[in-house]
Amino acid sequence: MYLDNAATSFPKPDAVHEAVLQAMRAVGASPGRGGYRQSLEAGRILFQAREAVAGFFSISDSSRVIFTHNATGALNLALQGTLTAGDHIITTSMEHNSLLRPLYALQSKGVELSIVPAGSDGVVSAEEIQRAVQANTRMIAVSHVSNVCGAIQPLQQLAEISRACGALFLVDAAQSAGYLPIDVEKYSIDLLAVPGHKGLLGPSGTGLLYAAPRVPLKPVIHGGTGSHATAEEQPLVMPDGFEAGTHNLPGIAGLLAGIEFIGDVGLSVIHRHEHALLAQAEQALREIAGVTLHGPSDPSGRCSVLSFTASGVDSALLATELDYGFDIAVRAGLHCAPLAHRTLGTLPGGTVRVSPGWFTTSEEIAFFSDAVVQCISKIRTAAG
Ligand code: ALA
Repeated sequence: MYLDNAATSFPKPDAVHEAVLQAMRAVGASPGRGGYRQSLEAGRILFQAREAVAGFFSISDSSRVIFTHNATGALNLALQGTLTAGDHIITTSMEHNSLLRPLYALQSKGVELSIVPAGSDGVVSAEEIQRAVQANTRMIAVSHVSNVCGAIQPLQQLAEISRACGALFLVDAAQSAGYLPIDVEKYSIDLLAVPGHKGLLGPSGTGLLYAAPRVPLKPVIHGGTGSHATAEEQPLVMPDGFEAGTHNLPGIAGLLAGIEFIGDVGLSVIHRHEHALLAQAEQALREIAGVTLHGPSDPSGRCSVLSFTASGVDSALLATELDYGFDIAVRAGLHCAPLAHRTLGTLPGGTVRVSPGWFTTSEEIAFFSDAVVQCISKIRTAAG
């Protein structure tokens, strides 16, 4: 039983499998690299996918959507493509290494970094972010939803702070895209980093960055774009100049099918389903002696994941018992977000994280909850 949709969603809708196979079997060619019909068909799929992404996030111009290989690629482009020595960036203690590590690398090149600690529930205070603003603040970067505890950050307030101080607003939607509505206009988002393979239900190896027209983005990967062949410098044409090299067309075709699937089911229906499963898991876990849930106490402040620890029980061992004893896949440990665990008080062992998806059933959550009870009891008994 797969309960690690926060890492990548599984299973994918059948339409996604079929779109991948169709792109491989019947199209095959590379978009923008030939004038023959197969290449034109590949270009059509690429364009349709870009349009679907634009529609999904209320982006008015789909050429501002840049396909990457994952959210990490999108974040690296957003950060390395905008920040230079002397710039100041504000982020939070709830970030994933996909944001933190590029920032540490930029810090070593002269970018000034402020990491604002979130509260012990994982929610960052807009007032604290405001206090960190300096004259040279160029960007505010935040994950919409924590991959560790599901805390939803106050995007609207953070967007207002960004606007007021003239900074770019970067949102990491790794755990919110496909779960919560995201409107780049409503939240004044300048840069939106999205994985294609999580909530959007596409294959792994897909992701995207939206860059608003006001962002002076520089490419970080240089190479062939299928156009401007005699130019020695990377063309700044959107989106081609930022997608050098051969696209992951089968993946992008699958991503298009994933977004269409969400459109057919309805984002609010998916959100309600996932919310109900998390509420069911939460209720069951709260009844187990010595179990602590991490993150906001109000479920409406959380999305996509539930993280917990059990006193006297090693999180990694519990996840292993769930896997080998009950065939349940959950993630344990630090989830690539060490500062988030310092914030939540869950260092060094981290938490056990459960993340259901659209295909998870209530029966599976009930089975998982019973299994947790049994595994905890077994571990505690063995420890004497
Ligand atoms: N960022 C993914 C996770 O939280 C891989 O599991």
